[in-house]
Amino acid sequence: MEKPRTILVTGGAGFIGSHVARCLGEQGHTLILVDNLNDYYDPSLKKARLQTLLANTPHTFYHVDIADEPAMQKIFETHAIDQICHQAAQAGVRYAQQAPFVYGHSNLMGTLTILELARLFQVKGIVMASSSSVYGDAKQYPVKETDVADQPISLYAATKRATELLAYSYHHLYNLPITCLRYFTVYGPWGRPDMALFTFTKAALEGKPIAVYGHGQMARDFTYIDDIVNGIVRALEVNLPWAILNLGRGKAEPLMSMIESIEQTIGKTLEKKFVEMQPGDVQQTWADISQARAQLGWEPRVNLEEGIKKFVSWYKGYGGV
Ligand SMILES: NC(=O)c1ccc[n+]([C@@H]2O[C@H](COP(=O)([O-])OP(=O)(O)OC[C@H]3O[C@@H](n4cnc5c(N)ncnc54)[C@H](O)[C@@H]3O)[C@@H](O)[C@H]2O)c1
Repeated sequence: MEKPRTILVTGGAGFIGSHVARCLGEQGHTLILVDNLNDYYDPSLKKARLQTLLANTPHTFYHVDIADEPAMQKIFETHAIDQICHQAAQAGVRYAQQAPFVYGHSNLMGTLTILELARLFQVKGIVMASSSSVYGDAKQYPVKETDVADQPISLYAATKRATELLAYSYHHLYNLPITCLRYFTVYGPWGRPDMALFTFTKAALEGKPIAVYGHGQMARDFTYIDDIVNGIVRALEVNLPWAILNLGRGKAEPLMSMIESIEQTIGKTLEKKFVEMQPGDVQQTWADISQARAQLGWEPRVNLEEGIKKFVSWYKGYGGV
């Protein structure tokens, strides 16, 4: 086992942050969690993650905004933080057109605050969440980390790419080890209610119709939460000086296959309303994961059918918020 460290997990009540915290807790690390518990989606799900998913994971929780520099500085003064696992962000491609300043606040100012405090308190390394959205409408698939990522087609994507650039300058200027992980459509138990698998499963169980964007012609590289968690934990262990790495399953699944899998798992045919693609959405995502394999020794293991079964079984037990 790796030497126990004190790790700050930002967005610790979020979908990915809470899962990674649980895994790090099992490895014996000291955990400091920060989250502002905002109401982008029902905060009771965030509280339930803290109370249920993290029930047996010792941690110190701070209800704090990561862009609140004085409050964050106090946390760094109180705990000798070795590493930062930065997951907090305003997620979601579509909400960015309604609330652009929230993205500027949490993703840009929030990340800058984390980087600046990491420098000030001489943190040993940062692993931070980026996104497949930075590739925009790519010219060829699967996408590689060396592909150009300078035409984001959503404000969300623009802020995530900007966090990578901020991170690089901190690495360059201060020798701060940073790994930016570009996640591809993460799903699984305790997932986000604004994401397709959640809304489709909810509609299926409530007997309501679903809106299928892009007339069902879209494809996504769906990545199961446990695989993402393993990638993050591995990146924290390896603590590369600088890296941007794709974390995906490495397979583009048509949206319709995902819907069929939900139908098979639930045993019901969904009523589908085929609608246009939403502004900011890309036609497909598909990761080349050879770099994460080579640099982290990481391999995704859970296929979509298996992952959907696990999600639906959690959803039925949880019963929604
Ligand atoms: N889920 C995905 O498919 C996916 C894909 C690509 C990238 N990401 C990135 O992964 C990270 C985690 O995403 P998630 O799916 O777990 O989303 P999430 O919304 O469940 O988690 C983010 C958490 O951060 C918190 N937060 C937001 N702004 C904050 C602020 N200013 N201060 C403190 N806390 C704040 C939220 O309350 C939330 O609990 C994000 O950076 C997101 O951009 C997620």
